[in-house]
Amino acid sequence: MKVIQVENQVEGGKIAFELLKEKLAAGAQVLGLATGSSPIEFYKQIVASDLDLSGLISINLDEYVGIDEDNPQSYHHFMNEHLFDAKPFKVSYLPDGANEADGPAAVGRYNKILSEHPIDLQILGIGTNGHIGFNEPGTPFTEETHLVDLDQSTIEANARFFEDVSQVPIKAISMGIKNIMDAKSIILFAYGASKQEAIKGLVEGPVTEQLPASILQRHPDVVIIGDAEALAKLNR
Ligand code: GLP
Repeated sequence: MKVIQVENQVEGGKIAFELLKEKLAAGAQVLGLATGSSPIEFYKQIVASDLDLSGLISINLDEYVGIDEDNPQSYHHFMNEHLFDAKPFKVSYLPDGANEADGPAAVGRYNKILSEHPIDLQILGIGTNGHIGFNEPGTPFTEETHLVDLDQSTIEANARFFEDVSQVPIKAISMGIKNIMDAKSIILFAYGASKQEAIKGLVEGPVTEQLPASILQRHPDVVIIGDAEALAKLNR
């Protein structure tokens, strides 16, 4: 695992963009993408570049259940706004969380998509509780795409994007830890003091399902990009 400290999110986005270009030059075809504030500068770098993504496939980590694609808070909407509208892929997959009753079938469809398109480079953020995607503490490491009851801490952390906490969905569909670990390479962004504990556990803690990101210690190609605040508790 490589840890790169950056001044700010713009520098982090630039470093990740250079890594992306290396992976594409080496033949990467399938990108695993994430939402949240942490990857935004990375997407800005892509949008500002002359990179053509129209031959590639993207597969997103997760989506809320019970809000449809056009809802401004949906991850579909986020991806269109920050990347896909400017840089369309050949195909972009996101979990279909719009119809709650369809959840189990949507999970099955997503696992099939993932088995057909192995991810070359997975982009991740991290939750303050150490979640990756929406794999909350306690999620078995063997899990593939699944329906999730969001942690109260995640609902509260994500309330900043909604008018009030009662509007935050309480369920999501997320790729599982197994799907994430199957990606050939991983870049994880972490910014700000609220991520200190999660990053400490990820890099130096025991590998435990109580801190889902700690499993990344067992992945052969992970780059952590973080600012001084997020990395402050590491023994370096
Ligand atoms: C959400 C997403 C995660 C993301 C996390 C951190 O819970 N499901 O994929 O990593 O938020 O978000 P941020 O980057 O805004 O801190």
